Amino acid sequence: MTDNFKLAPSILSADFSDLQSALKICDGGNAHWIHVDVMDNQFVPNLTIGPPVVKSLRSKTQKFMDVHMMVINPEKLVEPFARAGADNITFHIEATDEPENIIDLIRSCGCKVGVSIKPKTPLSDIYPILDRVDVVLVMSVEPGFGGQGYLPESSEKIASIKSFLTENCLDRVSIEVDGGIKLHNAKSILEAGADILVAGSEVFKSNDPVQTIKDFYKLSN
Ligand code: DX5
Ligand code: ZN
Repeated sequence: MTDNFKLAPSILSADFSDLQSALKICDGGNAHWIHVDVMDNQFVPNLTIGPPVVKSLRSKTQKFMDVHMMVINPEKLVEPFARAGADNITFHIEATDEPENIIDLIRSCGCKVGVSIKPKTPLSDIYPILDRVDVVLVMSVEPGFGGQGYLPESSEKIASIKSFLTENCLDRVSIEVDGGIKLHNAKSILEAGADILVAGSEVFKSNDPVQTIKDFYKLSN
C-alpha cells in the first residue's frame, strides 16, 4: 500500500537564513509534517537547531512539527522542545539506557513519542518499547547530514518492523523513514511498509520544491 502516507520535508536542507520560505514551501505543497533535525555535535558530528528556532517556526506555522533529536542526554531537551511547540519528539535508542523514562517524559509534556534507530543498531533494541511509542523512525543513512544515499538494507528492516507491529497488534504505531529518500525510490520504501517519509535534499535542493512535494504525493495514485 502506498496511499495515505505522510511526507515530512526536512528543513535541514533548506536555506537556514530564510526558514519562513521553507515553511511556505511546505504549505504550498500541502506537506503533512515538518521535520526538524536537532544535532548536538556529540551524538552526531553536526550542529543544528535548538528550541528557540523551533519556537520561531511555531509562531509561523500550524503544521505538525516533528522534532528528531540526534543528541546525547535527550531527557534534558524534551521539555524545552515541548514548550517551544514540538508536536512529536523523537529520541535515539542509542542515546539512552532508560528509554521508558524518556517516553514518559515526552508524554507528560503532551507530545507524541518517537524512537529512532541508527542503521547498525539491532532491531531487538527497540522491539521491547514499541508498544509505548507512536512513531518508530528508521534511519536509512548514518545520521548527521542530509544528501546521503539510501542504504538499501533499510527496506528489509522496515518490512521486519512492519511484521513485528502487525503480529503484536501495534498497527497504530507509524513507521517513519529518514535519509536518502528521493522520488525514484519512495514508492519501494512505502511498499516495504513506511507510513511517513522524510525528504530533505530531494525537496529543498530541487528547482521547484513545491512541485517536488506534490510529485511525492502523486506516487500514491
Ligand atoms: C540526517 C537527518 C535527515 C536528513 C535527511 O541525519 O536525520 O532528516 O535531513 O536528508 P536527505 O533527505 O537529504 O537524506
Ligand atoms: Zn531526521
